[in-house]
Amino acid sequence: MTAYDAGPYVPDGADVSALREAAAGCRGCPLYADATQTVFGRGEASARAVLVGEQPGDQEDRQGEPFVGPAGKVLTRALDDAGIDPDDVYVTNAVKHFKFTVPERGKRRIHQQPSLREVSACRPWLTAELELIAPQVVVALGATAAKALMGPDFRVTRQRGKLLTPDPPLDGAQVLATVHPSAVLRAGEGREAMYESLVTDLRVVAEQLS
Ligand code: URA
Repeated sequence: MTAYDAGPYVPDGADVSALREAAAGCRGCPLYADATQTVFGRGEASARAVLVGEQPGDQEDRQGEPFVGPAGKVLTRALDDAGIDPDDVYVTNAVKHFKFTVPERGKRRIHQQPSLREVSACRPWLTAELELIAPQVVVALGATAAKALMGPDFRVTRQRGKLLTPDPPLDGAQVLATVHPSAVLRAGEGREAMYESLVTDLRVVAEQLS
């Protein structure tokens, strides 16, 4: 089996913008082939919180920026309601390319969950971002990000909303897992309750940053 690994594409001694440039040429797994472009993180290197999603969606893939589609709108509102300054946040994803299928007769690209292999192949980019930014808190948005940060046995349903110390440590950062903003959009009648639960979890982060 061919090894998937972004590691060889990550330059030594790069700052965030050099990382972003290098990531544009990443071929560490096959997802680059169908995606429009690499979607790297957005935000200041001085950010005290890093928010990690799963992978770019359709809009993010087209625009080249994380969380600019419908889930991004939920996230922006939730950060505001939780009292987190958007300038204090760096937003990125566990996987930097959009993975999707196109149904035979349809035109719409349908999001597909990245495999564990793809998540771990992309991990060197996330590691490099976290090392440079050295945030106080890393927020895992949903199960894929939480597993990428805390290991495959981590369950957001059981361990959400708490500041946790990862093992192995993440340069002193604490990790808080919460629901993915897309889950809010999919929640039907439970949407408002799920949104409030996201805001409640983010308030724990706001308190830690204050
Ligand atoms: N969902 C994610 O996990 N990340 C994005 O950037 C957009 C949607």
